[in-house]
Amino acid sequence: MKAKLTANKSYVIGEISPRLYGSFIEHLGRAVYGGIYEPDHPLADDMGFRKDVLELVRQLNVPIVRYPGGNFVSGYNWEDGTGDKSKRPRRAELAWSSIETNQVGIDEFQEWASRAGCEVMMAVNLGTGTVEDAKNLVEYCNFPGGTKYSDLRRANGFEKPFGIKTWCLGNEMDGPWQIGHKTAEEYGRLACEAAKVMKLTDPSIELVACGSSHSGMPTFGLWETEVLRQCWEQVDYLSLHSYYGNRSGDTAEFLGCSLDMDRFIESVAAICDYIKAIKRSDKTMRLSFDEWNVWYHSNEKDKQAEKWLVAPPLLEDAYTFEDALAVGCLLITLLKHADRVKIACLAQLVNVIAPIMTENGGKAWAQTIYWPFMHASRYGRGKALRCVVECGSYRTARYGEVPYLEAIAAVDSGELTVFAVNRSLDEDMELELDISGFGRLELIEHIALTSEDLKAVNTAEKPDAVVPSAGKTAGTAPSLEKHSWNVLRYRIAGR
Ligand code: AHR
Repeated sequence: MKAKLTANKSYVIGEISPRLYGSFIEHLGRAVYGGIYEPDHPLADDMGFRKDVLELVRQLNVPIVRYPGGNFVSGYNWEDGTGDKSKRPRRAELAWSSIETNQVGIDEFQEWASRAGCEVMMAVNLGTGTVEDAKNLVEYCNFPGGTKYSDLRRANGFEKPFGIKTWCLGNEMDGPWQIGHKTAEEYGRLACEAAKVMKLTDPSIELVACGSSHSGMPTFGLWETEVLRQCWEQVDYLSLHSYYGNRSGDTAEFLGCSLDMDRFIESVAAICDYIKAIKRSDKTMRLSFDEWNVWYHSNEKDKQAEKWLVAPPLLEDAYTFEDALAVGCLLITLLKHADRVKIACLAQLVNVIAPIMTENGGKAWAQTIYWPFMHASRYGRGKALRCVVECGSYRTARYGEVPYLEAIAAVDSGELTVFAVNRSLDEDMELELDISGFGRLELIEHIALTSEDLKAVNTAEKPDAVVPSAGKTAGTAPSLEKHSWNVLRYRIAGR
C-alpha cells in the first residue's frame, strides 16, 4: 500500500513542551512500594529507592511526574507522609481499599524525582481536604523558612524548599467514585479559593483544574464550562483523562482509539475558547492531559483482589505489542496538539498500568509500551509540523473512518523526525515523504517496533520479546512494515 506525508518547514503547529512526556506515580498497588521504593531490595540505594527502576525511568527522559494520586489523593493527609518514619501512621486507604504505611511521602518523593531527573507535579486533596490543607502543603514545600510549615520541613531535614512549580487542584472531582465527589459548582468554587491561597503563598506556581474524568462522563462539557466559569482567572491548565482498551478483540478498531483522543482534545479546547470569549479574556487555557494510556487487561482480576493489604498487585496490565502501537498513535495525537497540550502524563510509570514492571525482590523490565514512549520523549522535541497525510482508510463501528497511516513530524536542532504507525494488519506501506523548506535530508536511522504476534508481551523471563530494531528504509523512501511503529530520523543537510 502507498501513502504520502506532506509537510513544510514554515507550517508549524507549535513548540513541543518537554512536559508532554510526563508520567504519574500514585500510592496505588505496587507503584510506590515494590516499584520505586523497596529498601530490602539488593539494588536499593541509600534511601531505599530501586536503582534498576531509576535507571529505566532515566532512560525514558520523563521531565515531570504527577504525585501522589489519582483517586488516592482525595482522602490523603499529606502530613502523614512527613517526618520520622517510625512515627508515621498506617491508614486504611479508601480509594483502593489498601493499607497505606506512609513510609514514602513528599519528603522522599521529591528526592526520588530529583534522582530520576524529573520535577514533581503535586496534587492537593480537594476531596476531604480543605483550602487550608492545600495552603499548608504549598508552604511546606515552597516557602523558604520562618513559618510553621516551612520550619517543619527544615526540621525534617530539608533546608532548601522543594520548589514545586505545578500543582493539580484535586483529581477527577466529577466522578461519583471519587472520595469527596463534588458538583461542578461546588468544585469550581473550592478550586477557585484553594487556587487563590496557594498562589498567595507562592505566586510563582501554576495550577491545573480538573476537567472531566473522560469524555464519556454524563456531565462532560457542562462540567468544564461551569468549572472554568468559576476559576478561569486563577488556573493555568485544564485537565483531561482518557484510557483505552481492546475490549472487543478487534485490533483494527482498537488502533483507531487515537481518533477519540483527538476529538476529546478539540472539544475541550473549544470549551476553553468559549469561556475565553464570554469572559473577554486574553488568556488561552492550556491543556494538561495528565492521565492517558491503555488500561483494561487487569480490570477483571482487580475485581477479585483481596482488600486491606499493603501494596497489593493492582492494575498490573501486561502490555501487548498492539498496545504499543495504540500508545504510538496516542503519542502522535498529543504531538498534533502541541500548541494546546502543554502537559501530558502517561498513567502510570511503574507496575500500575505502567511502561516499567518489577518483581518484589527481583527484576525490573521494560514493557512493550516503554519503547514508543521513549522514542517520542527522546526525539519528539522542538516544533511539531502540520502534516497532510494521504492514505487509504478503513471503517470501524466505534471510531468511524480510520486512516491506515498515523503520522507527525517534529523538527529540532538540525534534525527532522517523523513518527509513523502503519495501522494495516496485512500490508506493508511505502511512504512518500514530501517535506519542503529544509533542503536535503539525510537519513540518520529508521527505528521500528514490529512483531508478527500482536499479542506478544515482555516478561521478567523474556524482557526482549518486543524491542526496537532497525527499520527497512534505505535513502528517503521509507517502508513501514504492516502493524508497526516507526521513527524516521533525518539530518537536515541543507541545500
Ligand atoms: O490511574 C488510575 C486511576 O485512574 C487514577 O487513580 C484515577 O485518577 C483514574 O480514574
